[in-house]
This record gives sequence, C-alpha cells and structure tokens, in this order.
Amino acid sequence: MSESDELELTTLPGVGPATKQKLNDAGIYTVLDLATAGPSDIAEAIDIDISKAVELNNKARKRLVELNRLEPDFINAAELLQKRRSIERITTGSKNLDELLGGGIETWAMTELYGEFGAGKSQICHTLCVTVQLPKDQGGLDAGAVYVDTEGTFRPERVAEIAEARGLPPEHVLNRITVARAYNSAHQELIVRELGRILSPGNVKLVVLDSAVAHYRAEFVGRSTLAERQQRLNRFMHQLLRIAEVYNIAVVVTNQVQAAPDTFFGDPSRPTGGHVVAHTSTYRLYLRKSGKNRIARMVDSPYHAEREAVFILNERGIDDPPEETRRR
Ligand SMILES: Nc1ncnc2c1ncn2[C@@H]1O[C@H](COP(=O)(O)OP(=O)(O)O)[C@@H](O)[C@H]1O
Ligand SMILES: [Mg+2]
Repeated sequence: MSESDELELTTLPGVGPATKQKLNDAGIYTVLDLATAGPSDIAEAIDIDISKAVELNNKARKRLVELNRLEPDFINAAELLQKRRSIERITTGSKNLDELLGGGIETWAMTELYGEFGAGKSQICHTLCVTVQLPKDQGGLDAGAVYVDTEGTFRPERVAEIAEARGLPPEHVLNRITVARAYNSAHQELIVRELGRILSPGNVKLVVLDSAVAHYRAEFVGRSTLAERQQRLNRFMHQLLRIAEVYNIAVVVTNQVQAAPDTFFGDPSRPTGGHVVAHTSTYRLYLRKSGKNRIARMVDSPYHAEREAVFILNERGIDDPPEETRRR
C-alpha cells in the first residue's frame, strides 16, 4: 500500500463515502488530519456525539501508531528516549540563543515567543524561515516553512535580506515559504485545519503562527466572553501541538504581552489568553529589549535551566552581539 492509501479516510472502520465527504468539507482529508483534529471539531463536522467523535479520533491515532508515525499511549522509557532521538533542531541564527535552547528550536514541540511590541518575536520567526532551509550540517533541516500571519507583519523583503546575508539565494528561499494571511480567529482556525495538505509531503519542518493570540484578544473583549475565548484558544493551541507531534515539525507561536512576566502572570485583572498558550507550549522564551540588544529568557522548561541569552537584530535577522559587547 502506498502512503496515501494507508492514510485514506475510508480505510478506517466506520468511515464510508458520505462520512468522508462531510469530513472533507470540514477540511479533514486524511487520517493525519483526523488524528490532529479536536473531537469537538469532528463531532461538528459529521454531526455525531462527542463520544463517537472521540472514538473516531482514537481510531485515527491508532492507525498512525501502527504506521509508526505516532508513539503509542504506553511506551517504555527507553523506547521513548529512542523516539525522542527523531527530534531535530533548527538553528535560530544566534549561537547564544541556540545554546539557551539546547541547540535550536525543536521539532515535535511547540515553542512560544512572548514579549512586548518590538521585542523581536517576528524577527526570530522571519529568521527561522530562512535557517530551517539551511543544510543539516549548517544547523538547518533542508526544509520549507509555513508562516501564518495574523497581523500583516510578514515581509518577504526582510526574508530575502536575511537569506542574502546568510548566503542563500533569496528567490529559492522565498519559494519554499508558504504564507497564509489569517484575517480573524475563525479564519486562522480554518487555515490550521487545512495545514495537513501542505505538511503531508514532509518537506516542511517549521510552522509559524505570528501571532497566535492577537485575533482572540481583539474579538473577545470583556469579561463575559472570556470563557469562550479561553476555550477556543485552548482548542486551537492543542490542535497545533498535535500537528507538531504527528508531523514531527517545529511549531513556533508568538504572543504579545504588555509587562514584565512576573506582573503579567501575577495580575489576574489582565487575562489576555496568555496562560492558555503558556500551558500548551513545550518551551517558552520571554524576550525583552535591553538598549540595542535583545534578551531571551527560557521560562518553565522541562529540562532547561532558567537562563538568559543576549542577541541582536541585524541584516542576518537575529545574530550574536559583537564579541566586545557580549558580556553584560
Ligand atoms: N533589517 C533590520 N536590521 C536591524 N533591525 C531590524 C531590521 N528589521 C527590523 N528590525 C528591528 O526589529 C524590531 C522589531 O522587531 P519585531 O520582531 O517586529 O517585534 P515584535 O516582537 O513586536 O514582533 C524593531 O526594533 C526594528 O528596528
Ligand atoms: Mg511581531
């Protein structure tokens, strides 16, 4: 059987042509899509009980386990270590930042970049779209990227500049980046549901969501809509995490916050959706300005110490500060 046959929806018990059509209409085309969809989305798509939808979602996940594309629910820790060896890293373009991240941005994980306006979140995203394309011996994965732009801040000119400065042909680099402009939260959710079609061939190793939260923040204003906002955002973030795991890709999301993290998280009067993102992310980098430099801090990582790294913004995207200013 070819891979596309194995991932055909109707090969799952209980999925006939009519169900397949309804799933297609909701943007679910393959077993991979079904495994990454949330049960509530599946239930809505084919008008079944949530319990039936969970069952169907589990069937899809089981198929992926059989195909060795997803780890089983129970796994020996040694096997898990082996499995985690398939995790790859993308250089950020800054040695300091790579060091902080244990070698770069990880696949099979979601990394959150958060900080104030101008902290460098989008600049890191632009740079990663270039560095992911570098050959493996130069810290890349020789793969393309998808950039979901919710704020209209993606600049192909900036990508071309970064590519040029890093010795890659700009035209070629731009050709391997797929950009999706998301105009509202529902549109953003639709784009992410449709991602499977771009990701299936396996030539994309990075998905950027810049910003993951802005539309939710703008559309759900006031206390009365807070619960719905958190629920929608939670569903969305979990779908992203499943995508990172099923496709073994790096997912990077940005999140703009107004103040220092301590006051931000300690102040419940400013619930901006940030903590939903925080709980779903595998790694969190807090970014801030310090004169001309930028400082990144690794926050609540499962195994990185909470440390800081200094980087700068220049024609190479993000970079290390010149030798003499490196010590703070
Ligand atoms: N080519 C460049 N060289 C140096 N700095 C740049 C360049 N392009 C943008 N920047 C800087 O990047 C900063 C904006 O960073 P950005 O990533 O957009 O912030 P945000 O965290 O809000 O996404 C600005 O301070 C701007 O001066
Ligand atoms: Mg930005």
